[in-house]
Amino acid sequence: MRELISAAQLAKRIGEMGKEISRDYKGREPIFVGVLNGSFIFMADLLREVTIDCEVDFIKLSSYEGNASSGTIHLRKDISSDVAGRNVIIVEDIVDSGLTINFLKSRIEDSMPSSVAVVSLLFKREVAKLNFDLDYVGFEIPADYVVGYGLDMDQKKRNLKGIFSIEDELEKNCN
Ligand code: IMP
Repeated sequence: MRELISAAQLAKRIGEMGKEISRDYKGREPIFVGVLNGSFIFMADLLREVTIDCEVDFIKLSSYEGNASSGTIHLRKDISSDVAGRNVIIVEDIVDSGLTINFLKSRIEDSMPSSVAVVSLLFKREVAKLNFDLDYVGFEIPADYVVGYGLDMDQKKRNLKGIFSIEDELEKNCN
């Protein structure tokens, strides 16, 4: 595995993102909605860098089997908050094809919030097809499959402290 982003780089960038969000949302008491499972570590670290009053909720969606998207989004667990009239910030671990976030953003918008923003730790700009611009991005990365810091490969590797590309291993397994 090749390390793309170290634990120290993650901490530094997430600190900056927390400051930026705190400044933009001062007095607006946002609800952060994390997308499970991948965003749980990012959410925990980001929230501790946010210095304004806020709430947190989670939604669970899935589309991936192994390291490939099935193309269909399944809702496994919905949010429990009423977001009508609230400022929602969706927290994603990674935007890859954009399928999940396009689906989720329009689903949240159907609940009549005051605003919806999206923060994603990682963004594969080369391959993403989005109906909107992301509001906060941690790092733009190449289209390689990555693991660590909450991101998995078949449910494993979430516990790694940095972000690692596993393209070399995937190639080895195919040859
Ligand atoms: P998208 O719908 O293709 O944008 O993918 C969104 C979801 O797929 C993310 O929230 C992740 O759970 C998963 N995913 C996409 N790319 C990767 C990756 O490189 N590593 C781990 N999970 C990924």
